Amino acid sequence: MSAHSTYSQLTVYQEEPLNAGTPLEPLRRAFLTPQDLFFVRTHGSRPVVDQEAYRLVVNGMVQQQMEFSLTDLLTQFAQHTVTATLVCAGSRRNELAAVRPLSGKVLWGPDPISTAKWRGVRLYDILQAAGIEAEAQYVAFCGLDEAHEEGKHVSFGSSVRLEKALSPEVLLVYEMNDAPLAPEHGFPLRALIPGYVGARSVKWLQTITLQSQPSTNYFQDRDYKIFPPDITEETVDWTQGKTLEEVALNSVICTPHDGETRKAGPINVQGYAISGEGVPIERIELSTNQGATWLPAAITEKTDLWAWCFWEATLNLPSGDCQITVRAWDASGKTQPERVQPLWNFKGYANNAWHQIRLHLS
Ligand code: MTE
Repeated sequence: MSAHSTYSQLTVYQEEPLNAGTPLEPLRRAFLTPQDLFFVRTHGSRPVVDQEAYRLVVNGMVQQQMEFSLTDLLTQFAQHTVTATLVCAGSRRNELAAVRPLSGKVLWGPDPISTAKWRGVRLYDILQAAGIEAEAQYVAFCGLDEAHEEGKHVSFGSSVRLEKALSPEVLLVYEMNDAPLAPEHGFPLRALIPGYVGARSVKWLQTITLQSQPSTNYFQDRDYKIFPPDITEETVDWTQGKTLEEVALNSVICTPHDGETRKAGPINVQGYAISGEGVPIERIELSTNQGATWLPAAITEKTDLWAWCFWEATLNLPSGDCQITVRAWDASGKTQPERVQPLWNFKGYANNAWHQIRLHLS
């Protein structure tokens, strides 16, 4: 039996460490993704944590270094709930790889994305309890897991600017969809940074450090940075990359799936859309003529600012081959770029070009 048999419904790209996406059809069925369908992105080991012995350490530029058990967090601080989507920065990397090969990367489709109702304590409250020193500008997180990168053992870490860390949506969570976090999702505690790429939401959270500079952890300092298309692994100067923070505006067709054959006539098209900067999605449009004209889709489910929205439309399609394209607009008037080619980057991040599927109508 596989070590991850509970995740048998996922598309497994890699067994060890487990990297698995959510098939689009079940993904689109539930606004809150059940835990056993929630995508998994892991870089290293999966720590087994004893809840009784577990302690969260808060240190660095704080007036008082602190340690909390899970019971301390549950009893000493107010509990909050946020519905938020987590998406990996490598979502839709397979389309970038089709433009130019990407070496040694998990070639995700639009499937490392899921949404949950998360419960936990505000990072703001924890940092206030420790006392923030005036020089502190960044909050760094470090997990209990260990990955192997560039011939070295490294822990998984990230950092966010203090201003974001103090925002009310940023939580340290111990529950998703009213159940304790599963081991794969960071039991017993993880950071949740809504609106930011999933890499900043550190699982199996061990330490929170206040500091004057961003984290020097490999996954903050090198990985999860985006570079222009002319930069490659060989020419890269790591200091020049743009650190990934907010999720890019994106929309995806979940059903029908790419390459399907259907009967000509009314076809129901369904998908998701996300915007990362706390700006709501305002409009979803579909095109069957490569963007010459567009039809509006209906937004059918939308809750928290930090969660995706679901949309659908019924298109009347004649027999023959057809391509359906989707794009989203947010409330600030921003929309998605048309072509994937200019978005190519050697790390394969942040593809938010118009999403397209091909259909054959019989
Ligand atoms: N935290 C730790 N400690 N180790 C990891 O490998 N992966 C990150 C983030 N937090 C990771 C981590 C990435 S890249 C993503 S996209 C999300 O966790 C995925 O969260 P999930 O596996 O719960 O879906």
